[in-house]
Parts: sequence; C-alpha cells; structure tokens
Amino acid sequence: MQVLSVAVAGASGYAGGEILRLLIGHPEVTIGAVTAASSAGDPLGRHHPHLAPLADRVLQPTTAETLAGHDVVFLALPHGASAALARQLPDDVTVIDCGADFRLVDPAAWQEFYGSEHAGSWAYGMPELVIEGGVKQRTQLAGATHIAVPGCYPTASSLALAPAFATGLATGDVVIVAASGTSGAGKSLKPHLLAAEAMGSMSPYGVGGVHRHTPEIEQNLSRAAEHTIAVSFTPTLAPMPRGILATCSAQLAHGTTAEQARAAYLNAYDDETFVQVLPEGVWPTTAAVLGSNNVQLQVTVDERVGRLIVVAAIDNLTKGTGGGAVQCLNLARGFDEHLGLPTTGVAP
Ligand SMILES: NC(=O)c1ccc[n+]([C@@H]2O[C@H](COP(=O)([O-])OP(=O)(O)OC[C@H]3O[C@@H](n4cnc5c(N)ncnc54)[C@H](OP(=O)(O)O)[C@@H]3O)[C@@H](O)[C@H]2O)c1
Repeated sequence: MQVLSVAVAGASGYAGGEILRLLIGHPEVTIGAVTAASSAGDPLGRHHPHLAPLADRVLQPTTAETLAGHDVVFLALPHGASAALARQLPDDVTVIDCGADFRLVDPAAWQEFYGSEHAGSWAYGMPELVIEGGVKQRTQLAGATHIAVPGCYPTASSLALAPAFATGLATGDVVIVAASGTSGAGKSLKPHLLAAEAMGSMSPYGVGGVHRHTPEIEQNLSRAAEHTIAVSFTPTLAPMPRGILATCSAQLAHGTTAEQARAAYLNAYDDETFVQVLPEGVWPTTAAVLGSNNVQLQVTVDERVGRLIVVAAIDNLTKGTGGGAVQCLNLARGFDEHLGLPTTGVAP
C-alpha cells in the first residue's frame, strides 16, 4: 500500500501535537505540512520539544493552499475554524476534524449550544460506540472521506453508558460528573489555568446543563437506546495535565444485578483492543491510561437506589482526540485499526 502524505493544521496546539506524536510512529504515513495561526514561522520544537524528530520543521500559516496536495488533513483548530477551511479543500483529500464543527446531526442542538450556523455533520469517529441495531460505529468509518472526531468527555461518557442503553439495562435519568486535566482546555493562556489557580484545587465549570459536550453525549446515547436520552452533565477541572475520569450513572431496569450489568459490558467490549472492562473490584484511574489509546471501565450496581454506576478513564489527548483521530485514519484508509496507537501507558 502507498505511504500517505498527511498534514496537520493546528500543529502548535495540544491536540495537533498529540496527533503528530502518534503519526511519527505510524508506518504508513509521511508527515507533510504542519500549520498554525499566531505561531506560524516558528520551529515546531519551540512548541513541542518532546517531538524531537520534527523539531526543525517550520510552522506554516493555516491556509487551504498549504494543506491541499496531501492525502489526509487533520484539523486541530478551535471550533468554528474547521468548517470554512474544510469547504476549501479538494474533494479527494480525507479530512479528519478534531473540532466540534461536524459532530452534531441536529442543527437545533448546534444552534442552542454553539450559537452559530450549523455546518453539517460528518461520519462520527467513535469506532467502539454501539449504535442503532446493536452494531458498532466503525461500520460507518471504512472509506469515509470526512470524519468528525468526538469530544473528549463524550468519548469517556458515551463508551461508559452506551452498552447499558443498547441492551435496555439502563432506562434513563443519566447523571455524569467528569473530571478533566487542564490540557482539555487547550494551550492558549487563560487565568484560571495558571498553576497558581489550578494546582491544589478542583473546580466545577459549565454547570447547569450548558457544557457544549452535553448534546453530543445525548446524541450518542440516543443512538444506542434508539430513543431520546437526556443527560445531566457536570464537568470539573482537576489539577493534572492530562486525563479524564467520568463517573456516569443511570436508572437501572428493575431487578438488574451487578453480574448482569458486568456481563453486558464484557459482551460489548470483549473484542475491543482499546476498551478494557477491568477485573471485578478494580476501578479506573487516569494514571493507568496516560499516553495510551485505552479506555478503562468498571461497572457495578448501586442496589439500594437502583442505579447503574460506570466509571471510565481516558487520556483526553490520546483516546480523547489525537489517538481517536489516528484510529479514524486507519479505518478510513483501510489500515489495521491499531496502527501507530499505543495500548500501554506511561507510569508513574
Ligand atoms: N485538548 C483536548 O483535550 C481536546 C480533546 C478533544 C478535542 N479537542 C479539540 O481539538 C481542537 C484543538 O484543541 P487544542 O486543545 O489543541 O487547542 P490549542 O492547544 O489551543 O491549539 C489550537 C491550535 O489552533 C491554532 N489556531 C487558533 N486559532 C486559529 C484560527 N482562527 N485559525 C486557524 N488556526 C487557529 C493555534 O495556533 P497558534 O498556536 O499559532 O495560535 C493552535 O495550533 C479544538 O477544537 C478542541 O475542542 C481538544
């Protein structure tokens, strides 16, 4: 198979840097243009000193002209920037967007949470998601030319709850509280992300059903359930650079036992390399997935209140964006789905 030329837009940012880290180890691609906005003209090494093989590459301006001519373009830009750029790229370029622009199918949900014109929707890049008919979303990704990579919280939360809705174990009343490391907010300067503010403290944000990932999680769980599911989602900021720990709960179908719940999850994810249902009694931690493309899950039942409890851990930059994006590339272009993707983390 021919080696693909790949460009990364937003290469100076956290998501772009993670995509490049993984592409450096991918045997079927050659890295072409790396582009940025205010950092155009800088050597990449100034922004990502850990990407030693690419340290001398110069960041180019993010334009359609710079990106065209590659087989694949990854967009790792602030939401709203992808749609206009994607429209200018030739049709034969595979475009994989890490932003939100093309994730939501419902224009009204986009308008409510983003307040701008809906750009449309692309194939949704979460291969392991159980969807309508009990099949997995990867069936929609083979040969796709335009892919919307999921948000980081939706990756953890949807994979945590979709099997329960697909099998009817969960009936509704979804509550998700998730903690994210500070890299989830990108690398532009924000006062609340200063070490003095963020270290040694946990804080909620986007409280009251207003976080933009809410409709995306609802879209995913509704597909699994095949009817509308509403979600109460509260994100929190944790004093760590990377990682998401999502604690997800839902009303349980009457009489369901912890053993039945566990069996449903093992059944859903037994064949999945990147989604691991941990041994009974072992709970996920963000440390255990750091730098890997893994999702680690544990499931149980709170019998006293009749609720299903699922906890999921991911690295927001790997499975939560860059790893998910490379997995989509593999599926879209017919490579082994696991190519270039780490299943081992970094510890301590
Ligand atoms: N961080 C995560 O954990 C995560 C997880 C899932 C999805 N995502 C999504 O991935 C995308 C990138 O996030 P990030 O965390 O990498 O953000 P980031 O660290 O702030 O990086 C943003 C990148 O976009 C460039 N940029 C900024 N404004 C631009 C514009 N108007 N036009 C073109 N390029 C522009 C920046 O260039 P300069 O540095 O030169 O200004 C930088 O390269 C976002 O849509 C985000 O929602 C992020």
